[in-house]
Amino acid sequence: MKIIDQLSLTGRRVFVRVDYNVPLQDGKVADDTRLRATLPTLRYALEKEAKLILASHLGRPKGKRVPELSLAPVAERLSELLGKEVKFAPDCIGEEVEKMASALAPGEVLLLENLRFHEGETKNDPEFAKALARLAEVYVNDAFAVCHRAHASVVGIVDYVEEAGAGFLLAREIEYLSRVVTSPEKPLALVVGGAKVSTKIGVLSNLLPRIDKLLIGGAMANTFLRAEGFSVGRSFYEEDFLEEARRVLDEAEHRGVKVYLPVDVIVAPDEKASEGRCVPIGEIPETEAAYDIGEETRKLFAKALEHQGTIVWNGPLGFFENPAFAGGTVYVARAVAAENAVTMAGGGDTLRALKAAGVKRAFSYLSTGGGAFLEFLEGKKLPGIAALEKKS
Ligand code: 3PG
Repeated sequence: MKIIDQLSLTGRRVFVRVDYNVPLQDGKVADDTRLRATLPTLRYALEKEAKLILASHLGRPKGKRVPELSLAPVAERLSELLGKEVKFAPDCIGEEVEKMASALAPGEVLLLENLRFHEGETKNDPEFAKALARLAEVYVNDAFAVCHRAHASVVGIVDYVEEAGAGFLLAREIEYLSRVVTSPEKPLALVVGGAKVSTKIGVLSNLLPRIDKLLIGGAMANTFLRAEGFSVGRSFYEEDFLEEARRVLDEAEHRGVKVYLPVDVIVAPDEKASEGRCVPIGEIPETEAAYDIGEETRKLFAKALEHQGTIVWNGPLGFFENPAFAGGTVYVARAVAAENAVTMAGGGDTLRALKAAGVKRAFSYLSTGGGAFLEFLEGKKLPGIAALEKKS
């Protein structure tokens, strides 16, 4: 595929698909890692006097205009990071936006409103893709984190622009992760957490042939514990995926992959509680829910991660947004950071948790992708990457 420095940018309108799906708090960007990660691409294009049109999704508004999911706060933060004005369009397609894009002078930047306010985005609707393509001559994908989605701004648009290529962030992610997929240092341990069980469980079964150990924490663990027959009280788990979780456990055993589930958890009546208490699995009260892995589990996980060749981490091990339940994630993050292995982590929440633990810099590699990171490690060709390759 072509890389941005092989495209002709000067004086042209360049549509850059970025992933600014970032956490917001009180109308401000709470974590700007994904913004900073795109700066090399944006600065390069601006040096070349391109007219920059940036597009992203934020959350999952399902084709509706949801004011809380506006990208306006992102324009503000990006403008501070770039040290120049970032204009903000009230929509991502349509006459008014086309006028704003056409009026850009070389070296100016326009951020479009949330792509997912239109259902054509996630449906990869060709008419919506054409409407986006009308805004620019050149397309650059610098959104590794969304490359596993066959959406209009990731896949469809490529057919309707003159030239297309990858930004520096996407190129770097592909280069590093490809090395890990083809020849990882063994043994390889995978740590997974977070709440997106339904989207990750399929990935887990596909990853089993590539890994030696699987450590499961966070809300994800509840579904597995439930599948093992434990009561999880009021903890969040996915009823519809119990069978699949069971299958993953059986398959892991069959393949000789050692699985580690929590042996104790921190429980509380609700996620806002100012403290929780540690109980062994099997003693979670019916009226409470698990929000973190317990003391014994932390030690068990840290021990299991010793002497690995590669450690891959996706998803926090507890509800770390509340400091009362951040202890497990922080403990294990520090243990991983102290290991001599190749240590990799991916996903917005995961990176935020590692930052909170103060160990981000100690990791060998941090990916901006969550789901995309895991699917890439499965060895899958991601649709966003395939579209760029086809164009070249
Ligand atoms: C992510 O945060 O992993 C990406 O932005 C993709 O978001 P999605 O899971 O809503 O498609």
